[in-house]
Amino acid sequence: MPLPQAPSFELLLFGGNGDLAMRKLLPALYSRDCAGDLPPRGRILGLGRQPLTRDEYVAMAEQGCREFVPHGNFDEKTFRQFAARLGYLRLDARQPADFGALRALMEDSPAEVRVFYLATAPDLFSIICRHLSEAGLATPGARVVLEKPLGRDLASAQKINAEVGSVFDEGRIFRIDHYLGKEPVQNLMALRFGNAFFEPLWTREWVKDVQITIAETMGVEGRGEFYDKAGALRDMVQSHLLQLLCAVALEPPASIDPDAVRDEKLKVLRALKPITHENVLATTVRGQYRAGAAQGQPVNGYLEEEGIGQSSQTETFVALKVEIGTWRWAGVPFFLRTGKRLQEKLAEIVVNFRSVPHALFPVSRGALTGNRLVIRLQPEEDLKLFLLAKAPGEGQTLRPAHLDLDFAEQFQERPMAAYERLLMDVLRGKLTLFMRRDEVDAAWRWTEPILRGWETSGEQPKQYTAGSWGPAASSALLAREGAAWHEES
Ligand code: BG6
Repeated sequence: MPLPQAPSFELLLFGGNGDLAMRKLLPALYSRDCAGDLPPRGRILGLGRQPLTRDEYVAMAEQGCREFVPHGNFDEKTFRQFAARLGYLRLDARQPADFGALRALMEDSPAEVRVFYLATAPDLFSIICRHLSEAGLATPGARVVLEKPLGRDLASAQKINAEVGSVFDEGRIFRIDHYLGKEPVQNLMALRFGNAFFEPLWTREWVKDVQITIAETMGVEGRGEFYDKAGALRDMVQSHLLQLLCAVALEPPASIDPDAVRDEKLKVLRALKPITHENVLATTVRGQYRAGAAQGQPVNGYLEEEGIGQSSQTETFVALKVEIGTWRWAGVPFFLRTGKRLQEKLAEIVVNFRSVPHALFPVSRGALTGNRLVIRLQPEEDLKLFLLAKAPGEGQTLRPAHLDLDFAEQFQERPMAAYERLLMDVLRGKLTLFMRRDEVDAAWRWTEPILRGWETSGEQPKQYTAGSWGPAASSALLAREGAAWHEES
């Protein structure tokens, strides 16, 4: 059933000429406009420090859309229609006077929904909200969207949340983790709670381990300064990987109402067993890439990248063994792994099931004896269930085979990019796929002792060659539990 059209809106895009706006947000809005999802009365105002005319801004947006709209779906004519929605205002977020100019521009706006999208560094979130409030722009019903990272530790995240919360109610704050907008993550919930089949097996009795990987081939790509202060644990684990872990591990919610789902995710985050200085070396591996190759081309090591400190110890790779202290999951290791400059760009969730209790048939050499469910988020979106089947012929030897659900093949509709879905949810006021304040707190509460543990251990990140699957210690982490990363088996 098609959703009703979104209400008329004005979207005020802070960081409007930045990387995220050009690569993701404007292409996503353009795609939804082409799909007929944006109401006729909806305008988008880019805000940034650079002095740009409207024409210059439209030209930048056009270039971004040409390059980044998925599947080459760019078209001049529809872009001209979309461009009519665009405007630009030079605004320095630190200058209260600039917000007066913004107010003048928005006076008498008939829009039903007003959205402030903060695609800026997190240290500007509080200042922007304060200035919006002082200028009388944070009207009742106005919404604010915050991009990750939300802070760099528990205290800074709490401070930002408190300051933003003093201007906007929790029900009007949309904290983005774009991984939650990816189609296969939605599908994981659909799979678990829309089919009777999986849920009875989704427990410690049947699940041997869970692996979640987000691997990237790219390096820090001009974000060296930001990345060197963040590292893979803050940049990826604290948000994306923990959110995926929650999607695998949560209990069935009573409904898909935002709070019903978010309550269940919160319970998972709160049940994560602590990793502290006492067990950090046994349960985590951190790595940093040295020179190697990416897609056949030689590439620099992390320390040679622009904006990186000479003796930086920032991790560009992390692997962890995580445990969830609940009846459902006690004793089941969740292995998380992410890194830059790895061999492939790939994001997937792998659920390894236990072997049959008594084997009747011989199994071909090297084959897995347990079933395995692989949910691919990217590059392609699909779901494979690995089984054992009898090999053709006389004998009874079992060989691996798989059932394959390729979403692009099964369904005619083009899947929505994560930001397309999330932006439409913001306009429609649907909070389910956004992180609640207590979730962010809980995620930092668990992540911070790992950072402290690494600091006190004094251990350096382990080197790995760009283009590999990370340090050897990452395989050893799993081998100690009798497991192996999916790509190695
Ligand atoms: C961002 C991180 O949140 O996610 C980046 O800050 C990372 O470092 C990116 O590259 C990965 O997103 P995707 O959708 O390309 O896998």
